[in-house]
Amino acid sequence: MTLPKRTQVAIIGAGPAGLLLGQLLHKAGIDAVILELRSADYVLGRIRAGVIETGTVGLLEEVGCAARLRREGLVHEGVEISFGGARHRINFHQLVGRSVVVYGQTEITRDLMEARAACGAPTLYEAEDVILHDVTTARPYVTFKKDGAVQRLDCDFIAGCDGSHGVSRRSIPTDVQQVFERAYPFGWLGILVDKPPVSEELIYANHERGFALCSMRSHTRSRLYIQCDLDDKVENWSDARFYDELAKRLDATAVARLEQGASIEKSIAPLRSFVAEPMRYGQLFLAGDAAHIVPPTGAKGLNLAASDVFYLSRALMEFYIEKSRAGIDAYSATALARVWKAVRFSWWMTSMLHRFPNSSGFEQRIQHTELDYLITSEHALRAMAENYAGLPY
Ligand code: FAD
Ligand code: DHB
Repeated sequence: MTLPKRTQVAIIGAGPAGLLLGQLLHKAGIDAVILELRSADYVLGRIRAGVIETGTVGLLEEVGCAARLRREGLVHEGVEISFGGARHRINFHQLVGRSVVVYGQTEITRDLMEARAACGAPTLYEAEDVILHDVTTARPYVTFKKDGAVQRLDCDFIAGCDGSHGVSRRSIPTDVQQVFERAYPFGWLGILVDKPPVSEELIYANHERGFALCSMRSHTRSRLYIQCDLDDKVENWSDARFYDELAKRLDATAVARLEQGASIEKSIAPLRSFVAEPMRYGQLFLAGDAAHIVPPTGAKGLNLAASDVFYLSRALMEFYIEKSRAGIDAYSATALARVWKAVRFSWWMTSMLHRFPNSSGFEQRIQHTELDYLITSEHALRAMAENYAGLPY
């Protein structure tokens, strides 16, 4: 593909944030070029999110990328919380009139990649050494290396959608950026397996041996997680050991339905909360994991990437179509207000459901009381359902 020398918006990163932004801008008649470090296959091989909020589905609809999700996604009207040997259902639909869709991040990424290819919008994969230049001037540009040759892309704006290890956030001087961070003292060991889920809906389990989550990708594919130590290694966990440990953390009914198959993916993810403020520096805007990370417990990461991109696409449309800078000037504050609510919710879910090393008897009693209060108070249930199903934009 021959890349233009100039575009309106240079998007760094072809994860969900970059691809969705690219399609929203394309629909509005705004040009964008996406530069991605990895190959398309590598991006598609990363097994990550699975729970999609209604707002995210709406954005995929807007760009014409929701047909397969509507066909193959599983609509979930609630989740189950397991603790003290029993399971308790939280019915989002009844509590707040909303639901979520279970559909893999890999599938969303594939749908967006195909739509982008179909409309002929340029994405350059395996673009190395991306460097952002002159971002505080009206004429920023990006340089990158492709097949060993350095190239230059001029633009009006740069959208930093390059995830937590990307170059965009690192291009903002540390004296204008504030970072808020919490590292949790555990990780999640996850497997993907072609066996039916143990239950119709997701089970989030609090157990004295540690947290467990039974999720899924379809009626025939399960995604299962257990809390593990931070320094643990995938090699320490045979499938048999994984199932044995998972079974210890689930209720008897779930264990009876647990079908053990050979894992087709196995990985460990550390848990942390991280927010970089502001999300704008001159003509550079951060979106998604480039600006913030949440622990996966609340299923918010991908959905936050989508809400950032919603605000950013509207701001850029206002700039190009209505010739107003109001949206781009408000972007960081508007996005951060919603980000922090998801950070709070993800921290709360994580705190309530995991086993913390060295936690005292007092802390464990408080954790159980939090769970007991949650399942017995309609007000608490409604607050949980409202946040899990996704706060409005
Ligand atoms: P990314 O997906 O990280 O995409 C960034 C892209 O930028 C990548 O393709 C990367 O290769 C590219 N890039 C990086 N550096 C450069 C560079 N220098 N130049 C060019 N390109 C670059 N979220 C949910 O909402 N629900 C869930 O259920 C959920 N479960 C999760 C489970 C796990 C185990 C994990 C690890 C995460 C989960 N998440 C979940 C989080 C979710 O996957 C992320 O929040 C989401 O991927 C963020 O999208 P993004 O586009 O901002 O970043
Ligand atoms: C999945 C991941 C999550 O973090 C979560 O809270 C729910 C589901 C998943 O990968 O299916």
